[in-house]
Amino acid sequence: MRFETILKNGTIVTATDTYTADVGISAEKIAAIAAGLSAENAARVIDASGCYVMPGGIDVHTHLDMPFGGTTSADDFESGTIAAAFGGTTTLIDFAIQYKGQTLRHAFDTWMKKAQGKAAIDYAFHCIVTDLPDAQLDEMPALVHDGVSSFKLFMAYPGVFMLDDAAIFRAMSRAAECGGLICMHAENGGAIDVIVRRALAEGKRAPKYHALTRPTTAEAEATGRAIALAEMAGAPVHIVHLSCNEALEKVREARDRGLPVYAETCPQYLYLSIENFDAPGFEGAKYVFTPPLREKWHQEKLWQGLAKDDLQLVSTDHCPFCYKEQKELGRDDFTKIPNGGPGIEHRLALVYSGGVASGRFSPNRFVQLVATAPAKLFGLYPQKGTIAVGSDADLIVFDPKREETISAKTHHMRVDYSMFEGIRTKGSPKLTMSRGRVIIENGKFTGRPGAGSFLRRKTYAAV
Ligand code: URP
Ligand code: ZN
Ligand code: ZN
Repeated sequence: MRFETILKNGTIVTATDTYTADVGISAEKIAAIAAGLSAENAARVIDASGCYVMPGGIDVHTHLDMPFGGTTSADDFESGTIAAAFGGTTTLIDFAIQYKGQTLRHAFDTWMKKAQGKAAIDYAFHCIVTDLPDAQLDEMPALVHDGVSSFKLFMAYPGVFMLDDAAIFRAMSRAAECGGLICMHAENGGAIDVIVRRALAEGKRAPKYHALTRPTTAEAEATGRAIALAEMAGAPVHIVHLSCNEALEKVREARDRGLPVYAETCPQYLYLSIENFDAPGFEGAKYVFTPPLREKWHQEKLWQGLAKDDLQLVSTDHCPFCYKEQKELGRDDFTKIPNGGPGIEHRLALVYSGGVASGRFSPNRFVQLVATAPAKLFGLYPQKGTIAVGSDADLIVFDPKREETISAKTHHMRVDYSMFEGIRTKGSPKLTMSRGRVIIENGKFTGRPGAGSFLRRKTYAAV
């Protein structure tokens, strides 16, 4: 059998197994996995000795080229997917936003245009639903059929994104009928709005008040309510960007009762805390995203949640805004700071470093959290998210010993700061392959913007 490429002598790590074998790649797919594949049968041989060969990462929560608060997130589908590839992510699921009065189809078409010709890795979309008259409810099955098989709803941002309980319940019921999965931004937006207005009236305008006006109770209450609504609708629900222990407890309780409830957290909640708002001057704005940063003790609870499967995956919620001119829009009023932070490039290094290198969980659990569970939950498995004959050759050569210091000076995201500036990581990808093509090698991007394909995802299946 002839191969285009053989990855030789690496240790293959999947969510379940660790073993030494070579991987033969042909026509964009993994064509063979065996010990001692002959180098003579391949156009190219890549030596992976001393490294892990892992499935490429899947980031199910990104906001590229997204309008928000009078500006647009700083990475588009070209710069964002290239930065993702540098960090070992080979698939992302971004959010197509339906604005009020628009159809869901219009949102999907708009975001397809944003990605086409630009994405360097494969991509898919969730649809953010902000307006749900009957006509849009009836569009949900057609979107699921076309591969947009998950919908994000907001319990926060009244007047912009927020849906009321009746609309959420209707969407969940329809999603359950047509194989869709509801992803929930769980914060009590009504209560938060009152607290925010009180803070502004008292002259509290600095970035830290973004965090201080969004209590953990608001996240926990909404998480519990989302779970209750999903239970009544007979629907699965995925809680996005979970940030605190109180919300985690709601997810744990529901899962212990056997409900199809899932949740993700993000590296910022694992590494950063409310103390980041002590940064000088206006620099706290770099950490303004939603849900906000919490007290430090929540971090260990979230790591434990990842280790014990109370949390199923790690996404980034990559939503970059430059400090200069974008975050600065809120210099006099924290409510005007565009919400979001950059993270697409460092998810794997941060989760491996804090998870595996720090002894909290195994390399297999790492693969589960960053690739396999995302693929399974969002209808991409086994095409993506594992190393198996017939799967796409989305692979990384991961060096568990490589130490790096994260910095805006060296990152590839199109943003002028890093949330993780100065954090040292142990373990990171040194080569990234997307459908058999090497796209990151020797610290250089060797892929092509536009080479990424839209992935039509399957319907939800319980994990
Ligand atoms: O602050 C955040 N997370 N911005 C992105 C939008 C969202 O809620 O995920
Ligand atoms: Zn959100
Ligand atoms: Zn988000």
